[in-house]
Amino acid sequence: MTNTKRDWNSYYNAIENRPPRRTILTALAGFEESGFAIDLGCGTGRDTEELLTQNWTVLAIDQETETIQRLQAKFEDHPQLTTQVSSFEDLKFPQAVDLINASFTLPFCSPVAFPRVWETIFNSLKKGGRFCGHLFGDRDSWRDKPFIHCQTRFQVETLLKPYKIELLEEEEHSGQTPLGEARDWHIFHIVAQKNE
Ligand SMILES: C[S@@+](CC[C@H](N)C(=O)[O-])C[C@H]1O[C@@H](n2cnc3c(N)ncnc32)[C@H](O)[C@@H]1O
Repeated sequence: MTNTKRDWNSYYNAIENRPPRRTILTALAGFEESGFAIDLGCGTGRDTEELLTQNWTVLAIDQETETIQRLQAKFEDHPQLTTQVSSFEDLKFPQAVDLINASFTLPFCSPVAFPRVWETIFNSLKKGGRFCGHLFGDRDSWRDKPFIHCQTRFQVETLLKPYKIELLEEEEHSGQTPLGEARDWHIFHIVAQKNE
């Protein structure tokens, strides 16, 4: 079963115009100058917009054609933005990337595909480059959904071993999704720098 089970269009309408995630703001604060970033699972582009505002060159990727079309309409022919409709499981990443952002996206990657995607992220980053984004924890109420991939804290720490951890915050509380679904959240907020 794939992540197309989620109703992404309703989600995009619900989160339209939300500000950039704290993880990307934290990661950007670590750079002395702008560079090349990938926004993986960019959605409506809340983080892409911040990257462009801070003069980064951005490759925004999402599997949903509609969200990429929305992004293109929003930023018109922005000279520093390229877009790609692709599932990240099938993606060939460019090399020498300064920043890879995956906000609330990698949990939708299948557990089978995840190790290769994670390795590809690492291999695509320059030394000193950063990964920022989110993973879901093993106490998340979506852990048994077939299209969701959750990790224990130990697994997250193991994944981050080749990086210097700049932010690793664990958030756990009951709440709602932007679509109003009741949900127990267990989220890891991550900013990590690839070792020099
Ligand atoms: C929860 S939304 C987050 C969107 C945006 N990053 C944000 O923070 O608002 C997850 C996004 O990941 C995309 N996505 C999910 N699975 C994907 C996959 N396998 N390959 C590429 N994109 C995927 C969805 O289409 C959706 O736009």
